[in-house]
Amino acid sequence: MSTLYRLVYTSFRKPECDENEIQNILQSCKKNNPGRDITGVLLHSDKRFIQYIEGSKEEVEQLYDLISDDPRHTSINQRNFEAINDRLFPSWEMGYKDIDKVSFNTDASTEDQKTFNGIIKGELDFDDNALRILQLFFKMA
Ligand SMILES: Cc1cc2nc3c(=O)[nH]c(=O)nc-3n(C[C@H](O)[C@H](O)[C@H](O)COP(=O)(O)O)c2cc1C
Repeated sequence: MSTLYRLVYTSFRKPECDENEIQNILQSCKKNNPGRDITGVLLHSDKRFIQYIEGSKEEVEQLYDLISDDPRHTSINQRNFEAINDRLFPSWEMGYKDIDKVSFNTDASTEDQKTFNGIIKGELDFDDNALRILQLFFKMA
């Protein structure tokens, strides 16, 4: 089995990427990710995306190349790409949440929320702390 990798990027959602387009993106995830053995999460607000992708190195790289060329977002900024031992989201072909509509009804502290918002805004680098918050956000700790 090839080595598992994770990749995280943040980007800015283009104004023309409306709710309909978000649904189209999620349809693509549903259609394509299982066959590629890609799992992860996609968070979006009205202005931004953050996506966490995990799978084999080749599949993750190929998908990221494809996503990077997608005209529905811009300023795509890779924040993490490294080998991992286990998947964080093994059963999600691409979980998603609208971060404007859901709140942190988790154990996340105010400090955590600030960190998370910093990551989303591209002000902070992605690190293990950010991963922990992502997990908290998805209540999968
Ligand atoms: C923010 C963002 C995240 C995306 N994530 C995925 C993804 O996880 N899997 C995927 O197949 N396509 C994803 N896409 C869509 C791809 O860029 C591309 O449009 C799609 O894979 C084309 O395949 P299709 O014609 O089979 O739908 C994403 C697009 C955007 C803008």
